[in-house]
Amino acid sequence: MSTGLRLTLASALVALPITASAQNWSDQPVDPANHDETVAYEEGGRYFNEEDVPTYNVAEDGTVDWLTFSGFRRYHAECHVCHGPDGEGSSYAPKVKNSAVHMGYYDFYDVVVNGRGNGNSVMPHFGDNPNVMCYLDDIYVYLKARGMEAVPRGRPGSKEAKSDAIQEDENACMG
Ligand code: HEC
Repeated sequence: MSTGLRLTLASALVALPITASAQNWSDQPVDPANHDETVAYEEGGRYFNEEDVPTYNVAEDGTVDWLTFSGFRRYHAECHVCHGPDGEGSSYAPKVKNSAVHMGYYDFYDVVVNGRGNGNSVMPHFGDNPNVMCYLDDIYVYLKARGMEAVPRGRPGSKEAKSDAIQEDENACMG
Protein backbone atom coordinates (compact mmCIF):
# COMPACT_ATOMS: atom_id res chain seq x y z
CA MET A 1 0.00 0.00 0.00
CA SER A 2 1.41 3.43 -0.88
CA THR A 3 2.14 5.97 1.84
CA GLY A 4 -0.33 8.37 0.29
CA LEU A 5 -3.16 5.85 0.39
CA ARG A 6 -2.31 4.86 3.94
CA LEU A 7 -2.48 8.50 5.05
CA THR A 8 -5.82 8.95 3.31
CA LEU A 9 -7.17 5.87 5.08
CA ALA A 10 -5.80 7.03 8.43
CA SER A 11 -7.51 10.40 8.20
CA ALA A 12 -10.73 8.75 7.03
CA LEU A 13 -10.66 6.57 10.17
CA VAL A 14 -10.05 9.55 12.44
CA ALA A 15 -13.04 11.26 10.89
CA LEU A 16 -15.42 8.43 11.86
CA PRO A 17 -17.80 9.32 14.68
CA ILE A 18 -16.80 7.59 17.94
CA THR A 19 -20.04 5.63 18.16
CA ALA A 20 -19.23 3.86 14.93
CA SER A 21 -16.00 2.38 16.25
CA ALA A 22 -15.67 0.79 19.67
CA GLN A 23 -19.12 0.14 21.01
CA ASN A 24 -20.90 -0.93 17.87
CA TRP A 25 -21.47 -4.56 18.93
CA SER A 26 -23.10 -3.75 22.20
CA ASP A 27 -25.36 -1.14 20.63
CA GLN A 28 -26.88 -3.71 18.32
CA PRO A 29 -29.97 -5.32 19.79
CA VAL A 30 -30.03 -9.10 19.84
CA ASP A 31 -32.82 -10.97 18.11
CA PRO A 32 -32.57 -14.48 19.60
CA ALA A 33 -34.31 -15.87 16.50
CA ASN A 34 -31.23 -14.96 14.43
CA HIS A 35 -28.75 -16.90 16.57
CA ASP A 36 -28.70 -20.64 16.98
CA GLU A 37 -27.41 -21.60 20.39
CA THR A 38 -28.98 -25.05 20.46
CA VAL A 39 -26.90 -27.44 22.54
CA ALA A 40 -25.20 -29.94 20.21
CA TYR A 41 -23.50 -31.99 22.93
CA GLU A 42 -22.49 -32.09 26.57
CA GLU A 43 -19.07 -33.06 27.90
CA GLY A 44 -18.33 -33.34 31.61
CA GLY A 45 -20.99 -30.81 32.57
CA ARG A 46 -20.00 -28.34 29.84
CA TYR A 47 -22.33 -27.66 26.90
CA PHE A 48 -21.32 -26.85 23.32
CA ASN A 49 -23.11 -25.66 20.22
CA GLU A 50 -22.60 -27.06 16.73
CA GLU A 51 -19.46 -24.98 16.27
CA ASP A 52 -17.82 -26.54 19.35
CA VAL A 53 -18.20 -23.23 21.15
CA PRO A 54 -19.27 -23.28 24.82
CA THR A 55 -22.91 -22.43 25.34
CA TYR A 56 -25.53 -22.38 28.09
CA ASN A 57 -28.15 -24.97 28.95
CA VAL A 58 -31.35 -23.89 30.66
CA ALA A 59 -33.85 -26.60 31.65
CA GLU A 60 -37.59 -26.05 31.38
CA ASP A 61 -37.84 -25.38 35.12
CA GLY A 62 -35.15 -22.69 34.84
CA THR A 63 -32.26 -24.76 36.21
CA VAL A 64 -29.05 -23.48 34.61
CA ASP A 65 -25.84 -25.34 33.80
CA TRP A 66 -22.92 -24.87 36.18
CA LEU A 67 -20.99 -22.52 33.86
CA THR A 68 -23.90 -20.07 33.59
CA PHE A 69 -24.21 -19.96 37.37
CA SER A 70 -20.47 -19.67 37.93
CA GLY A 71 -20.25 -17.01 35.20
CA PHE A 72 -22.91 -14.97 36.99
CA ARG A 73 -20.75 -14.92 40.12
CA ARG A 74 -17.45 -14.28 38.33
CA TYR A 75 -18.93 -11.54 36.16
CA HIS A 76 -20.25 -9.73 39.20
CA ALA A 77 -16.87 -10.07 40.94
CA GLU A 78 -14.67 -8.87 38.06
CA CYS A 79 -16.64 -7.05 35.37
CA HIS A 80 -19.81 -5.55 36.76
CA VAL A 81 -18.06 -2.56 38.33
CA CYS A 82 -17.65 -1.18 34.80
CA HIS A 83 -20.14 -3.08 32.65
CA GLY A 84 -23.09 -2.82 35.02
CA PRO A 85 -25.17 -5.54 36.72
CA ASP A 86 -26.34 -8.48 34.56
CA GLY A 87 -24.24 -7.36 31.58
CA GLU A 88 -26.59 -4.47 30.94
CA GLY A 89 -23.85 -1.88 30.37
CA SER A 90 -23.23 1.49 32.01
CA SER A 91 -22.55 5.02 30.92
CA TYR A 92 -18.89 4.03 31.03
CA ALA A 93 -18.65 0.58 29.44
CA PRO A 94 -20.66 -1.34 26.84
CA LYS A 95 -23.56 -3.72 27.25
CA VAL A 96 -21.47 -6.89 27.13
CA LYS A 97 -24.44 -9.24 27.14
CA ASN A 98 -25.03 -8.17 23.54
CA SER A 99 -21.33 -8.23 22.72
CA ALA A 100 -21.08 -11.88 23.81
CA VAL A 101 -23.70 -12.81 21.19
CA HIS A 102 -22.50 -10.57 18.36
CA MET A 103 -18.73 -10.78 18.78
CA GLY A 104 -18.47 -14.53 18.98
CA TYR A 105 -16.30 -16.57 21.30
CA TYR A 106 -12.86 -15.86 19.85
CA ASP A 107 -13.15 -12.09 19.54
CA PHE A 108 -14.68 -11.92 23.01
CA TYR A 109 -11.69 -13.84 24.40
CA ASP A 110 -9.26 -11.66 22.52
CA VAL A 111 -10.62 -8.42 24.02
CA VAL A 112 -10.64 -9.78 27.58
CA VAL A 113 -7.15 -11.29 27.32
CA ASN A 114 -5.51 -8.31 25.62
CA GLY A 115 -7.73 -5.39 26.59
CA ARG A 116 -8.69 -2.58 24.26
CA GLY A 117 -8.46 1.17 24.31
CA ASN A 118 -10.28 3.95 22.58
CA GLY A 119 -9.18 7.28 24.00
CA ASN A 120 -10.47 7.52 27.57
CA SER A 121 -12.55 4.40 27.14
CA VAL A 122 -10.26 1.59 28.30
CA MET A 123 -10.99 -2.09 28.70
CA PRO A 124 -8.23 -3.51 30.92
CA HIS A 125 -6.41 -6.70 29.89
CA PHE A 126 -7.03 -9.73 32.07
CA GLY A 127 -4.70 -12.27 30.42
CA ASP A 128 -2.57 -12.56 33.57
CA ASN A 129 -5.47 -12.70 36.04
CA PRO A 130 -6.37 -16.32 36.93
CA ASN A 131 -9.61 -15.20 38.60
CA VAL A 132 -10.78 -14.16 35.15
CA MET A 133 -8.89 -16.48 32.80
CA CYS A 134 -9.81 -19.70 34.65
CA TYR A 135 -13.48 -18.70 34.44
CA LEU A 136 -13.67 -16.95 31.09
CA ASP A 137 -15.80 -19.67 29.51
CA ASP A 138 -18.15 -19.31 32.47
CA ILE A 139 -18.38 -15.52 32.03
CA TYR A 140 -18.84 -15.82 28.28
CA VAL A 141 -21.56 -18.46 28.58
CA TYR A 142 -23.38 -16.45 31.25
CA LEU A 143 -23.30 -13.25 29.20
CA LYS A 144 -24.44 -15.05 26.08
CA ALA A 145 -27.38 -16.51 28.01
CA ARG A 146 -28.22 -12.98 29.16
CA GLY A 147 -27.90 -11.56 25.65
CA MET A 148 -30.19 -14.26 24.27
CA GLU A 149 -32.64 -13.60 27.13
CA ALA A 150 -32.34 -17.29 28.06
CA VAL A 151 -31.92 -16.31 31.72
CA PRO A 152 -33.53 -13.38 33.55
CA ARG A 153 -31.62 -10.67 35.38
CA GLY A 154 -30.32 -11.52 38.83
CA ARG A 155 -28.88 -14.60 40.49
CA PRO A 156 -29.98 -17.87 38.85
CA GLY A 157 -32.31 -19.75 41.20
CA SER A 158 -31.31 -23.36 40.65
CA LYS A 159 -28.24 -24.82 39.02
CA GLU A 160 -26.74 -28.11 37.96
CA ALA A 161 -24.10 -29.57 40.28
CA LYS A 162 -20.48 -28.79 39.49
CA SER A 163 -19.03 -31.80 37.69
CA ASP A 164 -15.77 -33.52 38.64
CA ALA A 165 -14.35 -32.57 35.24
CA ILE A 166 -15.06 -28.87 35.81
CA GLN A 167 -13.54 -29.09 39.31
CA GLU A 168 -10.41 -30.75 37.91
CA ASP A 169 -10.04 -28.11 35.18
CA GLU A 170 -10.38 -25.39 37.80
CA ASN A 171 -7.74 -26.94 40.07
CA ALA A 172 -5.32 -27.31 37.18
CA CYS A 173 -5.91 -23.75 35.99
CA MET A 174 -5.67 -22.09 39.39
CA GLY A 175 -2.56 -24.16 40.21
C1 HEC B 1 -12.20 -0.79 34.49
C2 HEC B 1 -13.45 -0.97 33.79
C3 HEC B 1 -13.68 -2.30 33.10
C4 HEC B 1 -13.63 -3.57 33.67
C5 HEC B 1 -13.32 -3.97 35.11
C6 HEC B 1 -14.00 -4.48 32.60
N1 HEC B 1 -14.23 -3.80 31.44
FE1 HEC B 1 -14.70 -4.59 29.63
N2 HEC B 1 -14.64 -2.77 28.77
C7 HEC B 1 -14.48 -1.59 29.44
C8 HEC B 1 -14.58 -0.47 28.50
C9 HEC B 1 -14.48 1.00 28.85
C10 HEC B 1 -14.80 -1.05 27.23
C11 HEC B 1 -14.92 -0.32 25.89
C12 HEC B 1 -13.50 -0.18 25.34
C13 HEC B 1 -13.45 0.56 24.05
O1 HEC B 1 -14.10 1.61 23.94
O2 HEC B 1 -12.74 0.08 23.13
C14 HEC B 1 -14.83 -2.49 27.44
C15 HEC B 1 -15.05 -3.40 26.42
C16 HEC B 1 -15.27 -4.75 26.63
C17 HEC B 1 -15.62 -5.70 25.59
C18 HEC B 1 -15.85 -5.37 24.13
C19 HEC B 1 -17.32 -5.01 23.95
C20 HEC B 1 -17.72 -4.67 22.55
O3 HEC B 1 -18.94 -4.62 22.33
O4 HEC B 1 -16.87 -4.44 21.70
C21 HEC B 1 -15.77 -6.92 26.19
C22 HEC B 1 -16.16 -8.22 25.54
C23 HEC B 1 -15.51 -6.73 27.60
N3 HEC B 1 -15.19 -5.40 27.84
C24 HEC B 1 -15.59 -7.74 28.53
C25 HEC B 1 -15.25 -7.59 29.89
C26 HEC B 1 -15.23 -8.66 30.84
C27 HEC B 1 -15.62 -10.10 30.55
C28 HEC B 1 -14.81 -8.13 32.03
C29 HEC B 1 -14.57 -8.86 33.34
C30 HEC B 1 -13.63 -9.95 33.29
C31 HEC B 1 -14.56 -6.73 31.81
N4 HEC B 1 -14.85 -6.43 30.50
C32 HEC B 1 -14.12 -5.84 32.77
C33 HEC B 1 -14.23 -1.43 30.79
C34 HEC B 1 -14.06 -2.47 31.70
